[in-house]
Amino acid sequence: MKQQMQALRASSIQTILDCDNAERLEALRVKYLGKKGELTGILRQMGGLSAEERPAMGQLANQLRSDIEAAIEKRKGELSSAMMEQKLKSEALDVTLPGEPVHLGHKHPMYNVLDQIKDIFVGMGFEIVDGPEVELAEYNFTKLNIDEGHPSRDWTDTFYFSEDGKILLRTQTSPMQVHAMEQKSLPIRMIAPGRVYRKDEVDATHSPMFHQIEGMVIDKGITMADLKATLNLVVEKIYGEGTVTRFRPHHFPFTEPSCEMDIQCHKCGGKGCPTCKGEGWIEVLGAGMVHPKVLSGCGIDPDVYSGWAFGMGLERLAMGEYKINDLRLIFENDIRFLEQF
Ligand code: PHE
Repeated sequence: MKQQMQALRASSIQTILDCDNAERLEALRVKYLGKKGELTGILRQMGGLSAEERPAMGQLANQLRSDIEAAIEKRKGELSSAMMEQKLKSEALDVTLPGEPVHLGHKHPMYNVLDQIKDIFVGMGFEIVDGPEVELAEYNFTKLNIDEGHPSRDWTDTFYFSEDGKILLRTQTSPMQVHAMEQKSLPIRMIAPGRVYRKDEVDATHSPMFHQIEGMVIDKGITMADLKATLNLVVEKIYGEGTVTRFRPHHFPFTEPSCEMDIQCHKCGGKGCPTCKGEGWIEVLGAGMVHPKVLSGCGIDPDVYSGWAFGMGLERLAMGEYKINDLRLIFENDIRFLEQF
């Protein structure tokens, strides 16, 4: 038995110290010290020893066990520090190397114009609100006093989701007027920029998706004078002081009276040039005093409150500002185009 233990000591300690892998080391521990291990196998013979021999053998076996354990611990420590070293080596980072250049993008030209407009309105105490692009016909049309049968409701112009024509992609940001009036407490000063959709073929001036900015003020004693003064100020901030505007009568079902606002061509000063197509004026937006029917439909008493609203096309504005002659360029996201701004 003593010889068996000596043999085990000789073979095990060396094998352990030569082991180069943590899993294999654990397997060795089981092989030597486990319940069915070699040392246990030897100890089973203890029963056959005399009472005098037994303590000495027991002591020898304990010594062997703790020596094997110590060898395993030692090797385990060595292996894990070797692994750590290996890891540190492979993950070494030379912080003195020059970095990879990061290619920074920039804002889309249309969003530059939008941000400029937002800044102007926020500066005047307006709130910026956001609303759904998938809209109820009730909000896109009915509550805006656009009756059944009105041409803008036509299936050839509007993207409807359902056969019954109740759900659609909003064709204008004007439903945001209704949402604001229904949800907010008075007075209201808001702008609502966002995407709108119409069944238009793509060409240099049309796209089935484009952007509008809706604006609205509701308070006591609001008049057309407030509308004109506010929009004149905005135009001067965008196009420079002294920019001349003109308000032409127009018709929208949800405003009364309604108008369209033109600016005198900032390129030719009104003489007529390619930018204004020889007109001297550039149409910028539609606007008007919020119709009393729309107000009362939203639970606002038109005898106490009044308000104005406008809606303008964002692409058109950006095209004017950056002298872009084709609407498609704004959506194609060709880097050669975008990097010019
Ligand atoms: N929604 C109208 C359009 O798309 C513009 C508009 C908005 C007119 C608000 C008046 C008031 O043409």
